Amino acid sequence: MNFDEIIERRGTHSSKWDKMQEYSGVSPDDGIPMWVADMDFRPPQAVIDAVRKYADHGIFGYFGDDRAYLDSIKWWARTRHGYEIAEDEAIFSTHGLVNGAALAMHTWTKPGDGVILFTPVYHAFHRIIEAAGREIVQLELVQHNGRYEMDFDAYESQMTGREKMIIFCSPHNPGGRVWSAEEQKALAAFAEKHDLIVVSDEIHCDIVLPGHKHVPFSVAAPEARARTVMMMAPTKTFNLAGMHNGNVIVDDPALREAFGQTMAGLGLSPNAFAKHMVPAVYSPEGAQWVDELCAYIGGNVEVFDAGLAGIPGVTSMPLEGTYLAWVDFSGTGMDRDEMMRRIADEAKIAVNQGPAFGHGGESWNRFNLATPRSRVEEAVERLQKAFSDLQ
Ligand SMILES: Cc1ncc(COP(=O)(O)O)c(C=O)c1O
Repeated sequence: MNFDEIIERRGTHSSKWDKMQEYSGVSPDDGIPMWVADMDFRPPQAVIDAVRKYADHGIFGYFGDDRAYLDSIKWWARTRHGYEIAEDEAIFSTHGLVNGAALAMHTWTKPGDGVILFTPVYHAFHRIIEAAGREIVQLELVQHNGRYEMDFDAYESQMTGREKMIIFCSPHNPGGRVWSAEEQKALAAFAEKHDLIVVSDEIHCDIVLPGHKHVPFSVAAPEARARTVMMMAPTKTFNLAGMHNGNVIVDDPALREAFGQTMAGLGLSPNAFAKHMVPAVYSPEGAQWVDELCAYIGGNVEVFDAGLAGIPGVTSMPLEGTYLAWVDFSGTGMDRDEMMRRIADEAKIAVNQGPAFGHGGESWNRFNLATPRSRVEEAVERLQKAFSDLQ
């Protein structure tokens, strides 16, 4: 796969490119979009072929026979992550994983209940909790040796008894942590102590950088099965986000019944495109493509971090997983207006601004590195120039 290829995305209804001006004031004519978490790469050829074959047939009726679809999901979870999904019935396909998290919240919490987030964390979680009238309980991650950790002792004093659920992000967006099995066991113990459902959003599980290994929550803490809701999807991994497909995997039969009722009550089922696309990527060809992708992202991270290391006061958190770099500008002493004037107006880079991720994100910004290397090099040069008075 040639990840260096520049593919024109402007004028293709791309949120990342065609909405950047509106969102950040950066023109797509000469700006670099490093915000929305999708990639500027084509997916594996097998999925393009599958969609083409379906389109060429030209009939888009109701899909039947989930066998290949379900088998491919189980095969991927087992071979890539050592996660054995024993029964087909455990797999619920949702309209993506933001939808999956929202469905879980509606199943196991009611308005006024607390939903815990380890912040800073993916902004859409904040949005859905608030919109559903639940209370966001922000437990802030702590920095240890420059990376995020959970501090369960410190969190005890923040618990009110109203909390019913944790939405856990693993690997962590935006901090890039690939959580160890021990950390997840501690999370399971905390959840048990406070009787919380754990929704483990593992949408970034396949994008793990060399030297790190993703451990699914259900593998790390099987003892928490009766309170565990797993979520995985091929969409981040293979750049298929517009497909809006994800899997909520509920291994516990009692939890499964409750979640199934929510799904049935809303009449939810996946569209036929997903049924054609997923087996094409959860395949040996897909696996090889992801290995190449992770190596390429690793190279982009090196270029980005080396470039930023030359700017005093700007620090990139060491990335273990995801393609999203999390960068702290606090050392520059600048307020957000000045920092953003330099990033958006001078460097012409569209980023996700840190405060949207909740407590702890105030002085940070998130940069999407899933783009051809030449663009990462250009972004680094522009940032160095925009902050050149500090060097
Ligand atoms: C942690 C996390 N969950 C979910 C999503 C989006 O999932 P979907 O497009 O399936 O709703 C993202 C996208 O960036 C994400 O980072």
